[in-house]
Amino acid sequence: MATPWNTQLTPTIFTVCVFLIFSCASSEEKPVGYGYTISTVNNFPITNSLIANLNLIKSSSVFGPDIPHLSLSASFENKDRLRVRITDSNHQRWEIPQHVIPRASSSQYHPLRFLSTKQGFKNSLTLTHPDSDLVFTLHNTTPFGFTLSRKSSNDVLFNAAPDPSNPQTFLVFKDQYLQLSSSLPPQRASLYGLGEHTKSSFKLRPNQTLTLWNGDIPSATPDVNLYGAHPFYLDVRSPSSDGRVKAGTSHGVLLLNSNGMDIVYGGDRITYKVIGGVFDLYFFAGSSPELVLEQYTELIGRPAPMPFWSFGFHQCRYGYKNVSDLQGVVANYAKAAIPLEVMWTDIDYMDAYKDFTFDPINFPLEKMRIFVDTLHKNGQKYVLILDPGISVNETYETYVRGLKADIYIKRNGSNYLGKVWPGEVYYPDFLNPGSQAFWGGEIKLFRDQLPFDGLWIDMNELSNFITSPSIPSSNLDNPPYKINNVGDQRSINDRTVPATSLHYGNVTEYNAHNLYGLLEAKVTNKALVDITGKRPFVLTRSTFVSSGKYAAHWTGDNAATWNDLAYSIPSILNSGIFGIPMVGADICGFGGNTTEELCRRWIQLGAFYPFARDHSELSSIRQELYIWESVAASARKVLGLRYRLLPYFYTLMYEAHTKGTPIARPLFFSFPEDVTTYEINSQFLLGKGVLVSPVLRSGATTVDAYFPKGTWFDLFNVSNSVIAESGKYVTLDAPPDHINVHVGEGNVLALQGEALTTDAARKTAFELVVVISGSGNSYGKVYLDDGEALDVAGVKYEWTLVSFYGAVYNDSVVVTSKVTNGRFALDQRWIIDKVTFLGIPKHQKFNRMDLSEKELNIVNGTSSMTNAVMKSDSDSSSGFVSVQVSKLSLLIGEEFKLEIEMK
Ligand SMILES: *[C@@H]1O[C@H](CO)[C@@H](O)[C@H](O)[C@H]1NC(C)=O
Ligand SMILES: *[C@@H]1O[C@H](CO)[C@@H](O)[C@H](O)[C@H]1NC(C)=O
Ligand SMILES: *[C@@H]1O[C@H](CO)[C@@H](O)[C@H](O)[C@H]1NC(C)=O
Ligand SMILES: *[C@@H]1O[C@H](CO)[C@@H](O)[C@H](O)[C@H]1NC(C)=O
Ligand SMILES: *[C@@H]1O[C@H](CO)[C@@H](O)[C@H](O)[C@H]1NC(C)=O
Ligand SMILES: *[C@@H]1O[C@H](CO)[C@@H](O)[C@H](O)[C@H]1NC(C)=O
Ligand SMILES: *[C@@H]1O[C@H](CO)[C@@H](O)[C@H](O)[C@H]1NC(C)=O
Ligand SMILES: *[C@@H]1O[C@H](CO)[C@@H](O)[C@H](O)[C@H]1NC(C)=O
Repeated sequence: MATPWNTQLTPTIFTVCVFLIFSCASSEEKPVGYGYTISTVNNFPITNSLIANLNLIKSSSVFGPDIPHLSLSASFENKDRLRVRITDSNHQRWEIPQHVIPRASSSQYHPLRFLSTKQGFKNSLTLTHPDSDLVFTLHNTTPFGFTLSRKSSNDVLFNAAPDPSNPQTFLVFKDQYLQLSSSLPPQRASLYGLGEHTKSSFKLRPNQTLTLWNGDIPSATPDVNLYGAHPFYLDVRSPSSDGRVKAGTSHGVLLLNSNGMDIVYGGDRITYKVIGGVFDLYFFAGSSPELVLEQYTELIGRPAPMPFWSFGFHQCRYGYKNVSDLQGVVANYAKAAIPLEVMWTDIDYMDAYKDFTFDPINFPLEKMRIFVDTLHKNGQKYVLILDPGISVNETYETYVRGLKADIYIKRNGSNYLGKVWPGEVYYPDFLNPGSQAFWGGEIKLFRDQLPFDGLWIDMNELSNFITSPSIPSSNLDNPPYKINNVGDQRSINDRTVPATSLHYGNVTEYNAHNLYGLLEAKVTNKALVDITGKRPFVLTRSTFVSSGKYAAHWTGDNAATWNDLAYSIPSILNSGIFGIPMVGADICGFGGNTTEELCRRWIQLGAFYPFARDHSELSSIRQELYIWESVAASARKVLGLRYRLLPYFYTLMYEAHTKGTPIARPLFFSFPEDVTTYEINSQFLLGKGVLVSPVLRSGATTVDAYFPKGTWFDLFNVSNSVIAESGKYVTLDAPPDHINVHVGEGNVLALQGEALTTDAARKTAFELVVVISGSGNSYGKVYLDDGEALDVAGVKYEWTLVSFYGAVYNDSVVVTSKVTNGRFALDQRWIIDKVTFLGIPKHQKFNRMDLSEKELNIVNGTSSMTNAVMKSDSDSSSGFVSVQVSKLSLLIGEEFKLEIEMK
């Protein structure tokens, strides 16, 4: 067993390590493994798949014995998705059950009956699909390797062909240590994802270890594992020197594995070090970022539709004293004329922090009912918190019912006893099929008492205030490889349920740990659907792959600092990449004391988070938006624009639900060809064309904002525009009360009016903003329904979808609409009362200020012309003309054509 690596380091090897500092960090240790070779391969052209059997080259005892025989299968699940699965040939291993994440093809263990010899297989074997751009190649090297590349450009996307001189690049497969490494083209690959972590940079910076192990760790802590585990990344490529790879060509990679892991990203290499399960890799062909997300969410499940009201503004605090305190907050919002849609309560409302109870002194049920009824009468909503830990208390009925249903997580033969807010608790086991009846039953009994509108599930990592002693003999409590938990290789049992605990079916916490928040969200979502028959709103802290199908997410316990304000942008963009588009960070900061200036800048940014909630901690000062007059004034202004944009947000939710595209997007989603956008951390897009450029520094009154190619109009004042012939940075004024929000050319926005509730906003008329494009048509759409039906775009056709097209012709400016299922919108009598054209080129035919009604042509909706008023504006600095037609009453549910002739 002697190898160069387990004897003393020779000078030669030392030299090698100088060049491989990063990978040789632990050069004094023996190699973890020596890789595998291919024994046999079977190719199945009809199903576009192959299976290879692998033999261990030589064993290493580091991190436990190697598994001698592996089976690798590679298959095209469709033209845009290739799956590569590597597991033990002889023993079934832990894999995420189908019922937890239903996926197209089951991860069945492949028996060896396909065994055949390596016929015609010398150096390499490729697997292709006639309609796919992906090519999988198996390399018959020692050790063996595989690569994934593009047919169209030969670009290598994933390169798991090991470097024979570097054992860190070898495939290693042990019971509790799995290693797989891919090299990357160092200057051309920009990676995003692999969370959840708080990062200052959205694009992953080289030389870091990304640890995935869900924990109750404040998101105010950068660069450590947090509440969620998403072993998915998006790789956006810069152009290749031969010009065959176009800038922005993108693919996605998912390692579908729920075990703890470290992912070491070195810039030119990515290495997975996983402590269990199997390698189940999914590659998504893209080739645009948008298509990658469409393909990824097709596998894991599309994001849940969200109720319309959830796009309103939310107020929460840990530390509200009593019902009159809540009433006071609601009243103060009304008095300050700041929109408040949803009032929340944290654990304060509970009796001794027991779920499904009310504090009889401060939050008595009778008063809570009156409070919630009043909210509902005012078109407002109420959401409350639930924690998973059930207080161990013989007089507590929920506890007793859980005991009877035998629903709790077990360890060492009895229910595992943890400790959270109420003291000692048992945790419901959401892998137990009986958990739906138990948890759903408790929610039903609770909601029968108080008609809350949504649920907030917290502490579900699972959080525990104690770290139970490990069972000394257990490899689960003490795995041989220590992932970098909390940044200091802390025990995986640290302040959570120990790995040796058992779920239903003897599934260990070791394997299922990262799934807890997902499972709770799924059961909670279904409970609300069953009880209300309406679209549920569930907010979860802990997430895993596919959580977006059931819940919204907030970024957890941030702090009231300028850094945390800035970090919120990478965090929300990552959540979108993970298929959880309904996301926001606690506005004004959760922990510590905010300041007037920080809170003002934070609401300016937070008003454009998909999920906008102000939330603070018990020991911090109050930070409701009315506390400071300057914050209140800013809040009215920015929430005013948010509420005008509600139809846009809601339509983005519809797009997310049907295609997986995030609501808040990195700039490269719309401008993949612009490599500068790959580095941007301090701006984002809402949808395709609304650019948000916040102030993130104390004292700043300008902001250096990047504008991709095109003309951009300030949504607060459309007379202001930025013209970028090619992408450029522009220093914009950002006085204390202002955030820069621009709409780009080529977009048509359907807006509604400002209001204090979403209900009231929905009753106002629509306004179209048509931003003429210098290169082709402008486009936009709006999705309309009742805002809470379970089905989005369902078969009952209780919805309308309208697309708008704008253009300038030689002597006219036109906008037309195309309507699907107009009846719903017609029944609501929704009208468009104003159309604004921006960015009309100044040309002799379009520079006239004296428009008259004679020049206005409307097909369908002629009646609305009688009172129409036209106004045009010519901006000498920008060289554009804008035209506004108001006092219209075009039915949005009926197709129309509105044309202004300027002969
Ligand atoms: C990453 O580490 C390698 C080896 O230590 C070093 O050469 C390289 O400059 C580092 N890259 C960055 C971006 O820090
Ligand atoms: C609610 O709490 C506040 C602050 O502790 C207190 O001043 C007030 O008297 C309480 N009101 C009621 C009705 O208990
Ligand atoms: C059990 O709950 C009851 C009712 O809330 C409470 O009075 C009692 O103190 C609790 N017992 C323990 C041991 O926590
Ligand atoms: C497991 O249970 C046995 C028998 O009840 C007990 O002796 C042992 O201490 C327990 N171990 C742990 C780690 O709780
Ligand atoms: C779980 O393990 C116990 C003890 O090893 C065994 O008795 C039981 O049958 C197992 N249950 C299931 C569902 O596999
Ligand atoms: C926040 O402000 C309160 C009230 O002024 C003070 O008691 C508390 O210590 C402050 N907290 C921090 C973290 O500074
Ligand atoms: C909009 O901007 C223009 C040009 O900067 C300015 O003249 C005008 O006063 C602004 N309008 C409003 C309502 O702020
Ligand atoms: C007018 O509306 C009707 C009904 O919505 C539609 O069929 C027709 O195509 C529309 N005409 C134009 C020019 O948009």
